[in-house]
Amino acid sequence: SKVLKSMMKIASQHTLNVVNNALKPYNVQSPPIKIQPVSNLVDVDYNTPTLLQVFNQNKDKKTKQAFGLADIKAFCHKVIESFNPEDKDCAIEKLGVTDQGFLTIKLKQQVIEDEINNILKNGLNYPTEKKQKIAVDFSSPNIAKEMHVGHLRSTIIGESICRIFEFQNHEVLRINHLGDWGTQFGMLITYMKRKYPNFLNEPIDLSDLTMFYKESKKLFDEDPEFKKTAQLTVVDLQSGDPECRKAWEILCEISRREFTEIYKRLDITLEDFGESFYNDKIPAVIQDLKDAGMLVESDGAQCVFIEKYKNQPPLFIVKKDGGYGYDSTDMACIKYRLKTLNCNRLVYITDVGQQPHFDYIIAAAEKIGWHVPPTTRAEHMGFGIVQGEDGKRFRTRSSETVKLKDLLDEARERALEKIKERISGGAKEEGAEEDEEEKENKGNYTKLSEEEYLDAAEKMGMAAIKYYDLRQNRISNYNFSYDKMLDTKGNTAVYLLYSYARLCSIIRKSGVQSEELCKIIQTQGFKISHPQERIIASLLIKFPDVLDQVTEDLAINRLTDYMYDLACKVAEGYRKYHINNSEDKLTRILLIEATRQVLEKCFYLVGIKPLEKI
Ligand code: ARG
Repeated sequence: SKVLKSMMKIASQHTLNVVNNALKPYNVQSPPIKIQPVSNLVDVDYNTPTLLQVFNQNKDKKTKQAFGLADIKAFCHKVIESFNPEDKDCAIEKLGVTDQGFLTIKLKQQVIEDEINNILKNGLNYPTEKKQKIAVDFSSPNIAKEMHVGHLRSTIIGESICRIFEFQNHEVLRINHLGDWGTQFGMLITYMKRKYPNFLNEPIDLSDLTMFYKESKKLFDEDPEFKKTAQLTVVDLQSGDPECRKAWEILCEISRREFTEIYKRLDITLEDFGESFYNDKIPAVIQDLKDAGMLVESDGAQCVFIEKYKNQPPLFIVKKDGGYGYDSTDMACIKYRLKTLNCNRLVYITDVGQQPHFDYIIAAAEKIGWHVPPTTRAEHMGFGIVQGEDGKRFRTRSSETVKLKDLLDEARERALEKIKERISGGAKEEGAEEDEEEKENKGNYTKLSEEEYLDAAEKMGMAAIKYYDLRQNRISNYNFSYDKMLDTKGNTAVYLLYSYARLCSIIRKSGVQSEELCKIIQTQGFKISHPQERIIASLLIKFPDVLDQVTEDLAINRLTDYMYDLACKVAEGYRKYHINNSEDKLTRILLIEATRQVLEKCFYLVGIKPLEKI
């Protein structure tokens, strides 16, 4: 995609010049127009974002009013006039302008074919201009408390964005900011010591830590004597008392075991740097804030106020009772990531409810000079709440909070039903048009062993949950629905898994062996043999640009939309032309293979394991 990218750059730089020149008579302050990432402006054949959009995106009212459609079209024509397709470095065959003022770009066919051949020869790689060190703070459940659906969202989104950053060749720190510190340990340790005086020496089975948590919380709220002891225990723990420390370790270990199981099942990689890790770094941070004159006493506490957020409560750095809390930890944490680890970019993933907290932390870090945008970049990647199917709180029928393990199990069970239906041939996707390839495929699904069924069901179940989550606009709330996420039609993991399996089956049935495939790639290569192939191929070469947008806007749904779009375009191809029964079989198989590779990579990036046989 390098050629393409540099071409695009020339094209958009050129456009920018033309636009700026044309703007001169209007006497608008320059540069009034920001050209979007190059590839956004210049697109292929369809789905063309345009100058019009660039204008509309411009927030400056004066500029907006100064332009009408006629002006926009005039600009487009200027761009077109000054453009020379004959130039051999030029990747564009034709430029045009639509009635709505859209600039359309048609790439030279050869350029598209070269790009596809490049994928086939060299695999998918991503040209990175500047490698960054990126800290992604995600999952981050709390010890001794239930890991809930909110944490599940954070875990799924976090894993995916990390994989995407990694594919872009960045160095990624996957950080689990575990809630492993604070008052809850005082009460928990006090409770455990009373109820199981011996638990330090002979660890009992603490399978239900959350129950102990609830019970100790109750005592804490009701029994003043218990509360007092608990508070003293926190002080003991924070000052390093060995017995408390040991008790704390045991409790953390038990929770971790549970988290690890979930992570394993969802294929999540994380490194623990919990809140406790920053405990001894807080005093220095307090000193920094003092030196910067940012620490203000308020009602007995030491606080940081930020002018911009004066309608919100401040950050509590030292609480009234002299203790540290969530805010103090996050200040120490952001300093550590920016100044010690030297990260270029920080991403925090929690529900949108915590947006004000992170806005505050980030603004404070900027004020004190640790965070220097745009050299460093720090963002909260917030997400909406998961609701039940009825749009209310997500609960089980007996109105308890849903345990994550049960939720995952149910997804697997339901996926198993789907797969059995499909393989027994009982359920043909409703409304699916019978096309040429499907006819060939009929009754041809591979029979699976019982073990393979279970494995496929587990993969499909996890995929369905993850994909349904990632394809949402992350800020909005969404309703959790097994039926919707396991739908065989529409933008679901199931539809995509089937699409992928079908690509694999076409290649298998073609009888072309992989050595043979390699040889064709080296010799004749891919040639577009049908207009629909051009559409598919154009979509394939956009892949790196889609990822750029994903990481620029932290919007993974752009990737899922892309996957769905690709699968639909391929399905359209099946309806329009034959593959294995065609004279152009070999080159068509090459496009199928390139598509398979792109889709496989997409699956990896959204944390899905593909199924080849269903
Ligand atoms: N443990 C927190 C929670 O469950 C999330 C932590 C997010 N990360 C952070 N650096 N504060 O709400």
